[in-house]
Amino acid sequence: MKEWSEFSKISKARGVWLTDSDGNRMIDAVASMWCNVWGHSNPRLIKAITNQAKSFQHTSMFNLTNEPAEKMAKSLVQLSPGMYKVFFSDNGSSAMEVAIKLALQYWKNIGGGEKKTRIATIENGYHGDTFGAMSVGYVPEFFDKFKKQLFPTVRFPVPNRYRLPRSMSVTEYQNLCLEKIEERLAREDDIAAFVMESGAEVAGGVIIYPKGFQKRIGQLCKKYGVLFVLDEIATGFGRLGSMVQYKEQESIPDIVTYGKMLTGGYLTMAATLSNKRIYDSFLGTFNDRRHLFHGHTYTGNPLAAAAANESLRMYKENRLIRKIQKTSKVFERYYEEISQIDYVGDIRHKGMLMGIELVQDQKRKIPISPKESVNKIFFEQGRKNGVYLRTLGNIVMIVPPLAISEQELDSLIQRVIHTIKSAKEMVI
Ligand SMILES: Cc1ncc(COP(=O)(O)O)c(C=O)c1O
Repeated sequence: MKEWSEFSKISKARGVWLTDSDGNRMIDAVASMWCNVWGHSNPRLIKAITNQAKSFQHTSMFNLTNEPAEKMAKSLVQLSPGMYKVFFSDNGSSAMEVAIKLALQYWKNIGGGEKKTRIATIENGYHGDTFGAMSVGYVPEFFDKFKKQLFPTVRFPVPNRYRLPRSMSVTEYQNLCLEKIEERLAREDDIAAFVMESGAEVAGGVIIYPKGFQKRIGQLCKKYGVLFVLDEIATGFGRLGSMVQYKEQESIPDIVTYGKMLTGGYLTMAATLSNKRIYDSFLGTFNDRRHLFHGHTYTGNPLAAAAANESLRMYKENRLIRKIQKTSKVFERYYEEISQIDYVGDIRHKGMLMGIELVQDQKRKIPISPKESVNKIFFEQGRKNGVYLRTLGNIVMIVPPLAISEQELDSLIQRVIHTIKSAKEMVI
């Protein structure tokens, strides 16, 4: 993008604060792409990584294993009801590719499931930028250019309480969405898996599911013999206020993915977990060819795993999830003030995630569409107000580091409010 020919260069990051080479200080309201947990330059995480680096830095997981990765795998299985084994990769998109391959191959492995070749999803899901992940998570603005190369999926509507069909309540629309899903799953048996984000669609517009939506889809999957795949890459590990979001949603999947916050946001690691039934289907002799032909160079990287193990220890010691539930109330104090800004259409908040939808016409809910990039305008205005912001379309996202203090979050939100007010004349 031409207008982004120059970028702020970060020269220092401490706690929730970023400092660029021009001396601008900004609170990190993006959690460095939704992954930072403990703030920057945390001594314990640095020590864990350094200690591991002194021992060995990276060895392959092909024919080998390593202690930090094994430890992390055990912890992940312990955390995740119903899950049995872990496949590590190095980013969320890859973890989703693994999930899709596991789900599709499962049906081949068990025999008799050859018809099961399609993936079902819901609208506005986002699962990453590789081709499989783009196919299952189609967000039109992001992926239009590649439409022809993406594999077809069966996509169902999702209840977004701010944009419901006229005269329908959330519950009525949710029931209609679920009826459509059931009607399709009951009619044909070609669906191998249903893939969705757990708890909320984040990149697709901060759409927080109404109570029971995810649970019911899980039940329908069970009823009609479809694998249920949940993506907790953005929503697990505390972002929505619980460690494992699917527990809160009372919906145990067959496959789940984690990423982003696994290492506290310090190194790159993601994981795909499956239940025993799926894992067992991949066991066989060499000649059975049932194993998963998939692997990444940095799978199970010991440095990343050392950071992840230490971060997990810190979650427990600091009772982070409980702390998040308390800190998250700071957002509520500002609901009224934010909703009074005359171009705010809707506020959606859960845990440590808030999306503020900006509209040029509150009645007709028409999104703002300035000539310049909304993201650029808000980034620059935010920088002036001491906050690092990244918008998604017409939605201002607040995604702070999870361990942010109440005072810091208070200051962050005030800076965002100020930024929204000061950007108005540039975006309307
Ligand atoms: C829900 C979800 N899944 C998958 C991904 C992809 O993760 P990564 O950017 O690490 O490839 C993202 C990234 O934002 C995400 O939000």
